[in-house]
Amino acid sequence: MEPIVLNQERDASMKKLMSNTDYLLENRKTEAAQRFAALSALFDPVTLRQFDACGMAAGWHCWEVGAGGPTLVRMIAERVGYAGHVLATDIDDSWMKEAASQNVEVRNHDVARDPPPGELFDLVHARLVLVHVPERERAFRNMISTLKPGGWLVIEDADPALQPLSCIDAYGPEQELANRIRRGFRTLLSNRGADLSFGRKLPRMFRGIGMADIAAEAYFPITLPECTPLEIATIKMIRNDLLINGIATDDEIGQHLENVRTGALDLSQPPMISVRGRKPH
Ligand SMILES: C[S@@+](CC[C@H](N)C(=O)[O-])C[C@H]1O[C@@H](n2cnc3c(N)ncnc32)[C@H](O)[C@@H]1O
Repeated sequence: MEPIVLNQERDASMKKLMSNTDYLLENRKTEAAQRFAALSALFDPVTLRQFDACGMAAGWHCWEVGAGGPTLVRMIAERVGYAGHVLATDIDDSWMKEAASQNVEVRNHDVARDPPPGELFDLVHARLVLVHVPERERAFRNMISTLKPGGWLVIEDADPALQPLSCIDAYGPEQELANRIRRGFRTLLSNRGADLSFGRKLPRMFRGIGMADIAAEAYFPITLPECTPLEIATIKMIRNDLLINGIATDDEIGQHLENVRTGALDLSQPPMISVRGRKPH
């Protein structure tokens, strides 16, 4: 039976093989659109609850950081209306271009390396972005610098180290395979600078920089229909990386995808920690 935690030898040989330069799930891959749609289906209701808690209203100016796909951007635009404005940015804006409209501007922008936008916002939001950004502290400060006094920062990030498994109840070879592939995926991410225990650190970061009205909660899918398309799109995107790093064979990846498609697995996701706080007046 596979051990639950990567043993050190295997982890070390994986690390040697992996590049640590680029964003693993680059948006140019064709499955990116499916992955963004799956992320939206799974997480948008959670995010919209955060926006409600902040009191998002018509006329607000919002910055959606690392927006990925168009769905959430459109929903924000609907809420703020034509009196409001949404700036949607990403290092690769190709999949959200279609969201551009009268009150939505889409821009290629690196939240850590580029100067922050020269306008002030009522709300700045980033979901599942900072975990991937090696210079996440600078990105965090850049976002805060663009808030109006009293403006809200909402950051949502996974904490895979809190719950690293694909199948929590690993009762057979299908679940063991799913967990091995998920472990390999985590190692790939971590070797590109992702912080796999980042989510839990967010409240501390908010407190450290003097934000007010801080609140944090976690959303933890155990098995939901939306987890299936997310797993399929993710595995297709990283298939080559799994192969060249010896994490799974082509047959094993094919078998895993088949197990996912036939519904043989209860697929989980790591807890996503949502934190909100406002810049003091
Ligand atoms: C996991 S996806 C999440 C997409 C979207 N926020 C969501 O939750 O559906 C991460 C996104 O962050 C973007 N990203 C990664 N590094 C970034 C950076 N330094 N600045 C801006 N966006 C970045 C990626 O291009 C990708 O679209």
